[in-house]
Amino acid sequence: MSDAIQVRNLSKTFKRYPPRKHRTLKEAVLNGEIFRSSTEAKFIEALRDVNFSVPAGTTFGIVGRNGAGKSTLLKILCGIHKPTTGSIAVGGRLALLSLGLGFHGEFSGRENIFINGLVLGLTPRQLRARFDEIVAFAELEEFIDAPMRTYSSGMQMRLAFSVAINIAPDILLVDEILAVGDQAFSRKCIDSLNDFKRRGGTILLVTHDLATVRGWCDQALWLDHGTVTAIGRPEDVLAQYDDSFAEVPATV
Ligand SMILES: Nc1ncnc2c1ncn2[C@@H]1O[C@H](COP(=O)(O)OP(=O)(O)OP(=O)(O)O)[C@@H](O)[C@H]1O
Ligand SMILES: [Mg+2]
Repeated sequence: MSDAIQVRNLSKTFKRYPPRKHRTLKEAVLNGEIFRSSTEAKFIEALRDVNFSVPAGTTFGIVGRNGAGKSTLLKILCGIHKPTTGSIAVGGRLALLSLGLGFHGEFSGRENIFINGLVLGLTPRQLRARFDEIVAFAELEEFIDAPMRTYSSGMQMRLAFSVAINIAPDILLVDEILAVGDQAFSRKCIDSLNDFKRRGGTILLVTHDLATVRGWCDQALWLDHGTVTAIGRPEDVLAQYDDSFAEVPATV
């Protein structure tokens, strides 16, 4: 079986500057903030020497605490961020499903479908042919000409999901999005993801819902502070991940 995704020795360091204190150019000059030295910058190692591969046609789950580097990893895979070191190889057309990414609040749902579809590699003609289906799946016929900033999180998720699944990618990257839909729509998403799997699609799923990883993924990876802490069968990886929480007493 060939790999849909290969990640080799991948590291990503973000540079972050402390917030600026000045409001005007004059203040910047007086505070000596006009040139910022790189010694001021803080470096955040979001990913450190990450290695794994995802065989084509399988479902791969990634778990880890807030800030562990999961979204950064997905963003590198779809080209939003560049690796600092290391490499990635992706075999096939890829779509990223993540709330708030790729949508513009001032544009209508209709305009956003076109912008997203074009970015994902469809021609205007292909998009026109699939437009009605995308809107119908999302059940957003009434709202399709309203600006996206007026959509609820669930409505944005419906549109994002519908665009991604209808452009027929080979690989779907899903970043913690299924939880936002109501029960009926989540059911519909799961059904269409199952269809996608049956047709041989590869899914990389980031979620805090461990039951989904347990019931659905062929392999799992636990990312902790940017490093791979465990990788393998979901039940083994999740048992280790679960244990890591037992060490921290819960407080209310
Ligand atoms: N563009 C950026 N600039 C600077 N730092 C960033 C940037 N994006 C992410 N980070 C930092 O990288 C680290 C990993 O963030 P990331 O969003 O990948 O975490 P995550 O595992 O997806 O967390 P969550 O479960 O909360 O979604 C965090 O410390 C975050 O602050
Ligand atoms: Mg994230």
